[in-house]
Amino acid sequence: MDRKDSLVIAAGAVACVGLGAFVAARLSRPQQVVTSLEEKSSKVAERIPSKPIPEVVTKLRIVTVSQPEEKRSVTVQVPATSANLGCGYDTLGMALDMWNEVTLTRSDKFEIICEGEGVDDIPLDETNLVYVGVKVAYEAMQKPVPNFKYELKQRIPHGRGLGSSSAAICGGLLAAMAISGHKLDTHGAEELLQLAVSIEGHPDNVAPAIYGGLQMGLYSNFEKRWMTSRVQLPHGLIFVIFIPGFTGKTTELRKCVPKEFSAADCVFNMSRIAWLVNALLTNDIKHLKEGFEDRMHQRQRGDACYPHMQPLIDAAYEAGAIGAYLSGSGPCVMAIADGGIGDFFTQSDQVQRKDIAIAAAMRSVADDMKVVGKVYVTHPAACGGVVIAADPPYSTPLLAFNGDT
Ligand code: HSE
Repeated sequence: MDRKDSLVIAAGAVACVGLGAFVAARLSRPQQVVTSLEEKSSKVAERIPSKPIPEVVTKLRIVTVSQPEEKRSVTVQVPATSANLGCGYDTLGMALDMWNEVTLTRSDKFEIICEGEGVDDIPLDETNLVYVGVKVAYEAMQKPVPNFKYELKQRIPHGRGLGSSSAAICGGLLAAMAISGHKLDTHGAEELLQLAVSIEGHPDNVAPAIYGGLQMGLYSNFEKRWMTSRVQLPHGLIFVIFIPGFTGKTTELRKCVPKEFSAADCVFNMSRIAWLVNALLTNDIKHLKEGFEDRMHQRQRGDACYPHMQPLIDAAYEAGAIGAYLSGSGPCVMAIADGGIGDFFTQSDQVQRKDIAIAAAMRSVADDMKVVGKVYVTHPAACGGVVIAADPPYSTPLLAFNGDT
């Protein structure tokens, strides 16, 4: 695939690329035909007997195009995500500017090639979560999975609480939809979210991986589906991540979370979630930190597995953080600073910005505790997973919006 000849807008301008792809797709979209998966679910089960199909897949109403614009190859990128934000266990999640890339190319044989962070830990067979995402997407399309070459560029450290599993799942789902030319309903259905949660089990990583920003997800008993809503963020937030050299296993770490809580602990967490969301919406930076406290999982995981967690959180606050928490199920510790203006690698506000001091303080405590790790400084990603290249391309470099939708 010739990347120069692919999408109209240069890689890196992520929001613009998403818009370009959207506009290009809209401009050339054939008439849509809506079919019901419920009518055909029994046939799907016959065709793909190897793995039970998640119930949600058989319930989805998929939107297909009369002549799907199949691609020979697509590349998507999907952001890292930081779940929970302390109080919002299995509910809140934030997309971060750190991206994995998935390229699918039609091929004679199934093959996965992987480079980057933690490649030795990434399975290269059908247990790979990118493949699982692709498979579930094709099940939703009621089609067998074609042979693809999978090229994975890993930049999100694996097993650290930065949503690498969700990035893989969403990368597979998106790439499969893009290469096949099929589309899913968004408004009032959020079918991609349903598919992703059917694999991951909870929405806090997959929702921001799909939509970007800070998302709060829930299962609606009225709509009988997963829903997610974006929380607007104050400008200039900087995320300072201490990434330990060791991994945590989410399935094991979920066993640290009690099955029952006292009314006082429930009130504690409810008050923090409400406080945090309102403080973010009203730009109340000074009192954001009250909202990151938690009694459901953080201390329990710290006591069981992460002795570095609380000392690093304390160090971050002492150095001026406006929030600090265990990222996802850990072991990463996240600290938040404000004052990021423009590109924060090239523009520095020494008066307001505390991220360097926070990073140094966290690293110093980690060194004292002999916890090996590195610090990564980033910021929220406003958009989620997006197609960044396709062959044939969605558009030409000369594409101009002509008002025709
Ligand atoms: N909410 C999840 C947890 C995030 O804390 O276990 C990690 O997948």
